[in-house]
Amino acid sequence: MSETSIQEVVKQKYGQAAKQVTEGGTASCGGGADLSCCDPITKNLYDEAEKSGLPADAVAASLGCGNPTALAKLQPGEVVLDLGSGGGIDVLLSAKHVGPTGKAYGLDMTDEMLALARANQKKAGVENVEFLKGAIENIPLPENTVDVIISNCVINLSGDKDRVLGEAFRVLKPGGRFAISDVVVRGEVPAEIRRSMELWVGCIAGALEENEYREKLARAGFESIEIETTRVYKVEEARDFLAAAGLDPEVVGPQIDGKFISAFVRAVKPASTAACCGSGCCG
Ligand SMILES: C[S@@+](CC[C@H](N)C(=O)[O-])C[C@H]1O[C@@H](n2cnc3c(N)ncnc32)[C@H](O)[C@@H]1O
Repeated sequence: MSETSIQEVVKQKYGQAAKQVTEGGTASCGGGADLSCCDPITKNLYDEAEKSGLPADAVAASLGCGNPTALAKLQPGEVVLDLGSGGGIDVLLSAKHVGPTGKAYGLDMTDEMLALARANQKKAGVENVEFLKGAIENIPLPENTVDVIISNCVINLSGDKDRVLGEAFRVLKPGGRFAISDVVVRGEVPAEIRRSMELWVGCIAGALEENEYREKLARAGFESIEIETTRVYKVEEARDFLAAAGLDPEVVGPQIDGKFISAFVRAVKPASTAACCGSGCCG
């Protein structure tokens, strides 16, 4: 499937998810409102203190698989960019960490999500936030302008991960941090899972294998690469998800048990990029 087709399917699914929240419900990760797939992935990511300071719709729209702002060690005055910001939960949390002298950008390509995020910003009454429309493969910001890139369960959805990582590298300032949550695969994954577009949109099948992630980050020019497991998924948790995608949990289940993890992926753009040769950093 081409990158454009993937983006169209992803936009449609997350447009529906945003609509669910606008109509008073809770967003589901994809593949249909009745799919209970993502509960083990999206549940209990934020503590009560974090949630209580946010608009209810920002919490209801949460579709991440981690809590990158809790791990990214954001400092007052920093500029943060959230790739695939959805309903805006991590952007609003980042805005608190960086304070009035800092800024938190959210980037998303889905109009309904952007509308929801902007409404949440208004309800939260925060000014150091800006939601941008665009693709994470083509970030609409100049190079060397961002201190920290965060993202929550989005890079796995991209059909061109090298480009996303290259773009992240480009917009980060020298010494800037890449600090994201994502679903990551450990070892081989059966071909039928990779082929399933429903699973892809539901946050799993586009996930990178752990070592592949490290290689791609290094190729983009990053250093100090670390992948820290935050959750390990068991077959029991994926049973409904697999069945809804037309896969037999009894057959596929044992092949994926424990292979999908949520991880916190960290890396740093070198303070001096003169010597590196990753995408977009030579010269
Ligand atoms: C799984 S949701 C996560 C939303 C948010 N990060 C959170 O934690 O709730 C994925 C979001 O990324 C956006 N997205 C997916 N692929 C994208 C791309 N290639 N460019 C821009 N946004 C994208 C979708 O529109 C959706 O809002």
